Amino acid sequence: MTTIFEMSKKGRIAFKIPNNNIKDYEFDFPEHLLRKTSPRLPQVSELDVVRHYTNLAAKNYSVDVGFYPLGSCTMKYNPKINEKIANDEHFSMIHPFQPMETAQGALQLMYELKEMLCEISGMDDMTLVPSAGAHGELTGMLIARAYHLSRGDTKRKKAIVPDSAHGTNPASARMAGFEVIEIKSGPDGRVDLNELKKHLDEEVAVLLLTNPNTLGLFEKDIIKIAEMVHEKGALLYYDGANLNAILGRTRPGDMGFDIVHLNLHKTFSTPHGMGGPGSGPVGVKKHLSKFLPVPEIIKENNTYKLNYSKPESIGFIRSFFGNFSVLVRTYTYIKTMGKEGLKKVGQMAVLNANYLRKKVSKIMDIAYPGLCMHEFVSTCEKLTKETGVKALDIAKRLLDYGIHAPTMYFPLIVHEDFMIEPTETESKDTLDEFAKILGKIFEEAKQNPELVKNAPYTTPIRRLDEATASRKPIVKFNFEGE
Ligand SMILES: Cc1ncc(COP(=O)(O)O)c(C=O)c1O
Repeated sequence: MTTIFEMSKKGRIAFKIPNNNIKDYEFDFPEHLLRKTSPRLPQVSELDVVRHYTNLAAKNYSVDVGFYPLGSCTMKYNPKINEKIANDEHFSMIHPFQPMETAQGALQLMYELKEMLCEISGMDDMTLVPSAGAHGELTGMLIARAYHLSRGDTKRKKAIVPDSAHGTNPASARMAGFEVIEIKSGPDGRVDLNELKKHLDEEVAVLLLTNPNTLGLFEKDIIKIAEMVHEKGALLYYDGANLNAILGRTRPGDMGFDIVHLNLHKTFSTPHGMGGPGSGPVGVKKHLSKFLPVPEIIKENNTYKLNYSKPESIGFIRSFFGNFSVLVRTYTYIKTMGKEGLKKVGQMAVLNANYLRKKVSKIMDIAYPGLCMHEFVSTCEKLTKETGVKALDIAKRLLDYGIHAPTMYFPLIVHEDFMIEPTETESKDTLDEFAKILGKIFEEAKQNPELVKNAPYTTPIRRLDEATASRKPIVKFNFEGE
């Protein structure tokens, strides 16, 4: 597809800025920042622009286009009412610098959302400021550090992370200055209590867990784990990216977690992918509330205010108050679903995952036996040994059939794996169709491995050099001769 710069034809115009005699202001910009030549905007007609961006948009794959079983990423359907409300000008046109008396509605929404999320997660207090899950993890780690230091406990330098954890967990702990201790999962894919015991000492500040974990399995020993961690004076951190599976059923706060982050852009509506915008509120138990970042939203005599005066707070973790439009979507989602609706989300997510797990188990091996939560991990290892066709090849071939590939090669402890998460909104027909197509591709792999190894055939670009594409992306158009 050509770029809009390549379409440019001298003299073509889509829009002309009216000359409305706006006064010239004198700005004191440094000379070296002033451009010497006019920007080289493409010269195109309105029709050129409309066609170009319509065609470009049509190349996007999204939940609105087809099945998107991306394990761990929870690509669920987001009701359009949430978009409509978030785009209402009363929300979208407010500015973070406007006087707070004129933004009472926005503050009320955030205050009430905080209360609802505390109730859903079983926590006592919460900040809505973090911009994503990983940012929430970093906030949580800084809170854990502040807590231990406030008690004069300076020896706690370690953070324990299971080997099945999402990569952001060790990264966030490291960024907060902790030494990361990885512990091996047990043969059932869950935390191995003996392994945990071995590493749990008075130097451990925090254990990071997600429940259900990244293998889609519920940590049945979570109460025991919480006891073990607390006995040693450490904190238990909940990576809430998998909350979709337990919505309205059980709460991390009730399992003994001290700090949680929630991925609003997964569990509570807002499309995500390609990095944003997201929101990763962090909830804490009472004893950690004073460490939450500023500002906090408070209610005094029916007026909502921003409180910056928290002497033990970890301080600012970003500008302003969070990604507000994501918060509006979340608020709308929770209000429209209601308690029963949210509970049903968890139930249907688990039902769909188990239905599909059963169907997929007839095609490929499931890495860990038994019931799963919202996702499950399957492996193509046997097929790879027999035919040389890898999980990557199967994933590419799925694209030819109009289906987004599941998450692959994660967690690292399962080889040639697919992590499949169908989410609650997919129908039985869609799940049946996916299983049928997957079965067909496995048959193709056995009959004609080269066919699958060279897929995809129908996408705008065939196989990419993925490492180069992500490490050296070309993000700027090169004009001829430059
Ligand atoms: C289990 C888990 N933890 C943490 C994260 C990080 O969240 P984010 O992508 O919002 O930074 C993810 C994201 O996919 C996840 O699946």
